[in-house]
Amino acid sequence: MEEKCIQLLHFSVVLLVIYGNTTAVGVSSEAKIRCMEREKQALLQFKEVVVDDYGVLLSWGSEEYKRDCCKWRGVRCNKSTGHVTKIDLHISFFAQRLTGKISPSLLELQHLKYLNLGGNDFGGNQIPVFIASFSRLQYLDLWGNSFHGPIPHQLGNLSSLRYLDLSENQLDGGNIEWLSHLSLLRHLDLSVVDLSQATNWTETINSLPFLKNLHLRHCQLSNVVPFNSSLSLEVLDLSDNDLSSSIYSWLFNLSNGLVDVYLSSNQLKGLIPDSFGNMISLVNLDLSLNQLEGGIPKSFSNLTHLQTLILHHNSLNGTVTKSIGQLSKLEYLDLSSNNLKGMISEEHFSNLSTLNYLDLSFNSLALNISSDWIPPFQFGAILLSSCKLGPYFPKWLHNQSNFLELDISGAGISDVVPAWFWDLPHKLRYLNLSYNQMNGLLPDLSLKISGDLEIDLSSNCFTGHVPRVPSNVTFLSLSKNMFSGSIYFICTSIGVQLIYLDLSNNQLSGGLPDCWEKFEYLHIINLANNNLSGKLPNSMGSLNNLQALLLRNNSFHGELPTSLKNCEKVIYIDLGRNRFTGEIQAWIGMHLTSLIVLSLRANKFYGGIPETICHLNHIQVLDFSQNDLLGELPKCFNNFSSLVKNDGFEAPYHLWYQKSHGLYTVKQFYGGNALLQWKGQEREYTKNLRLLKIIDLSSNKFCGKVPKQVATLAGLVSLNLSRNNLTGQIIQEIGQMKMLESLDLSGNRLSSEIPTSLTRLNYLSLLDLSNNNLSGKIPSGTQLQSFNASAYSGNPQLCGLPLANKCPREEIVVKPPGKDTRSQEEEEEDRFITAWFYISMGFGFAVGFVVVFGTILFSSSSGHAYFQFLDRIHNWLEAAAPEGMRTCAEVEVDQVEYPIPAMPVFSNSFLKGITAQFFMCNLLWMKCVLKDCNMLFWIT
Ligand SMILES: *[C@@H]1O[C@H](CO)[C@@H](O)[C@H](O)[C@H]1NC(C)=O
Ligand SMILES: *[C@@H]1O[C@H](CO)[C@@H](O)[C@H](O)[C@H]1NC(C)=O
Ligand SMILES: *[C@@H]1O[C@H](CO)[C@@H](O)[C@H](O)[C@H]1NC(C)=O
Ligand SMILES: *[C@@H]1O[C@H](CO)[C@@H](O)[C@H](O)[C@H]1NC(C)=O
Ligand SMILES: *[C@@H]1O[C@H](CO)[C@@H](O)[C@H](O)[C@H]1NC(C)=O
Ligand SMILES: *[C@@H]1O[C@H](CO)[C@@H](O)[C@H](O)[C@H]1NC(C)=O
Repeated sequence: MEEKCIQLLHFSVVLLVIYGNTTAVGVSSEAKIRCMEREKQALLQFKEVVVDDYGVLLSWGSEEYKRDCCKWRGVRCNKSTGHVTKIDLHISFFAQRLTGKISPSLLELQHLKYLNLGGNDFGGNQIPVFIASFSRLQYLDLWGNSFHGPIPHQLGNLSSLRYLDLSENQLDGGNIEWLSHLSLLRHLDLSVVDLSQATNWTETINSLPFLKNLHLRHCQLSNVVPFNSSLSLEVLDLSDNDLSSSIYSWLFNLSNGLVDVYLSSNQLKGLIPDSFGNMISLVNLDLSLNQLEGGIPKSFSNLTHLQTLILHHNSLNGTVTKSIGQLSKLEYLDLSSNNLKGMISEEHFSNLSTLNYLDLSFNSLALNISSDWIPPFQFGAILLSSCKLGPYFPKWLHNQSNFLELDISGAGISDVVPAWFWDLPHKLRYLNLSYNQMNGLLPDLSLKISGDLEIDLSSNCFTGHVPRVPSNVTFLSLSKNMFSGSIYFICTSIGVQLIYLDLSNNQLSGGLPDCWEKFEYLHIINLANNNLSGKLPNSMGSLNNLQALLLRNNSFHGELPTSLKNCEKVIYIDLGRNRFTGEIQAWIGMHLTSLIVLSLRANKFYGGIPETICHLNHIQVLDFSQNDLLGELPKCFNNFSSLVKNDGFEAPYHLWYQKSHGLYTVKQFYGGNALLQWKGQEREYTKNLRLLKIIDLSSNKFCGKVPKQVATLAGLVSLNLSRNNLTGQIIQEIGQMKMLESLDLSGNRLSSEIPTSLTRLNYLSLLDLSNNNLSGKIPSGTQLQSFNASAYSGNPQLCGLPLANKCPREEIVVKPPGKDTRSQEEEEEDRFITAWFYISMGFGFAVGFVVVFGTILFSSSSGHAYFQFLDRIHNWLEAAAPEGMRTCAEVEVDQVEYPIPAMPVFSNSFLKGITAQFFMCNLLWMKCVLKDCNMLFWIT
């Protein structure tokens, strides 16, 4: 839609320019008429006040040769009176904007009929009220002028107005009743004006009998009252509002019959009414991005003038009616992203001789077309992603020689791509054959195409060397094929336009070529999972726009070239599983400060970690594991501000632009995928990478204490320091790392007791403290007992559950909660728990418990609230369990089970589930309480 608007805009710009030129010719032929001095002075004052950085008003001036203001750019006069009647200063290039203010001197131009200032930037000012004094004004266009604030109601005085465009400002429409005085209005565009307060806007529109074009896109409209059937509306644009009814039946009763209807991006529900069949003048219909259901009405066959039909992103189901094939004027058909199913046959296209754009992607459609079918159209774009076309390569493409875009990804084609296909149209912009099982060798494609091009052949079975590709390729993905040989074609075949290069998961070998300096636009390089070797060439340092460098799992060696420090925009580096060596250089932290992911995993880096690494304050994944790094860990981890924050993972993950379907679509980029050690396993992550906040320094030779600054990383989800030579205690403040789900400190020489604050980590689901020198009792907490005993093994002096090694009796002392360490908020929560607990006991414990417990479980979608809840019970029990009950713990210890922590599943009976949850958090006291209340029978 956006593109459509832009096209329309250009169109009108062109028209106006043409119009302007013809009048200019007319004026020059009547040289005697000069403009009025007073009007000229008014215009000069206007020029004085605006800021004209681009010389738009160069022809305006007081010099003698400029004396006739009727010849100034954008100014036109009445030939017989000499009065200025027209000012047209709308922008022709976006960059060439006037800024500043509009001088009230313009008021002098009392004969003005036409005022167009569209696109200039009158930054943040209100629409000047004096505009309402141009009593002869017929045409007023203040499109995109950065006006703010309310629209002056005095504009209602402009009773001659036929054309009014106030769109694309930041205006507050308020009550728009003043519009009803503009009874001659033909064209009204208030798009992007906030009309949420204009509750009876429809009544106002109903009082404009001549209105033909109404554009109220993105106006925050939520209700519509029926339009008068006597209105002569032809174009209705209500797209991108909050309309949530079914499609209005009054649309079909408007007297003239609508020509263009744009209702996309609302929440319209229900069926597409059959009555559309009566709207026989309809040319363009866009109902996309709503919640429409049911089928495409058969009555559409009546719409013989229809050129554009856009229904994508709804919930339309059923089959595609064959009557679509009767729409002989249809040029643009987009039914993508619905639930349509069934076959598309030749009949569906029988009369569509002008069809240019067809998008059936993301439905459950299959094309059932005979191999000798010759389409009646030459398409410009055909997008059939996830439509079943295979197993054979569609022969009907043979006759298509003009297309710009072709997407037959995920189409179930497992065939050799025929040679004729590679004779691609030279206007091609977008080719997506990914996710099929196409095979065969690719021919040389280099000479055939001019212009920017995106090629995605990924996830197929293509073999042989990578062919030469068209030099103007911007996006090239050949990943997940069986290409072999070297990648020197990059230097010889690809031009400077390259933005995205993905050759990952092939069998490519040899070194990297040294020609990277030419790729000044290259954002992403993914060469992971090949057999590439050699050193990284120096010229990679000239990739000024590089955002991601993925070289994982190859055989690269040598040191990283210092020139890489120039890639200051890089956010993602994954060099894991290679043979890189050298020290981790200080420049990484000093220059690559945009980094979000830095993985040097499984290489041969040596030496210490430079302090500068802490300058990476966007970092979310820092993985130096499996190297030969040594020395102490830096004490500045609190500088990793992205890891310190736990406020909903809002990393500055990057956007890049992909040109596809003729549009620039914004894609969120998480670096493609990452190989990470996560919960004990090395796995490749492709989704939700932005949710991971990880530090992995495992399997090195780090020594000394774990710096206490680590505890400030309240957003960290996984911390792995295992298999090093770390000493000292586990940091006492570890309980501050509230988001921690995985903590591996195994295989070090950590000593002393496990800090009790560890029990505060409500999300912790993987813990490994094995093979250290820890001692004392494992703190009893919400989950600590639920881990497997192996999490604590190899610490001979450690005791208590879940280890079989019992602590000496006197060590079981329940500490009263330390008031000093607890926030007021936590105490509030405790009071709440205590209160309900006693109330429950009054009513009958089990019932009360089930109710409250059940509510919390079912009302929380994550485990978070649940664990917090258990934590609170635990705290309450520690504080409040009566003195005499404490010994119960030991009595019952042997019967306590420790199921793995997981969300409760009440498979058999609700009560049984609860039992398990009690044990899960090791509520020894709870069990005693229950027993004493005679409730044990209820639950075991
Ligand atoms: C010019 O002004 C005269 C006198 O007011 C008027 O009759 C005529 O229609 C105007 N011409 C145009 C093109 O507006
Ligand atoms: C619109 O609403 C305003 C009050 O919000 C009222 O004064 C006005 O009469 C209404 N106009 C119409 C046409 O109903
Ligand atoms: C098609 O249009 C005619 C009027 O031209 C109307 O009578 C008829 O009902 C329409 N058909 C459908 C299926 O709506
Ligand atoms: C389409 O969806 C509607 C409900 O949205 C349902 O009633 C109808 O049966 C579905 N039709 C088909 C053909 O699946
Ligand atoms: C294609 O690339 C060449 C350089 O490789 C460039 O000169 C030419 O202008 C580009 N063509 C288009 C249409 O972008
Ligand atoms: C661990 O550190 C100690 C000194 O603190 C040293 O003697 C020992 O060799 C180190 N072990 C390893 C495997 O590096």
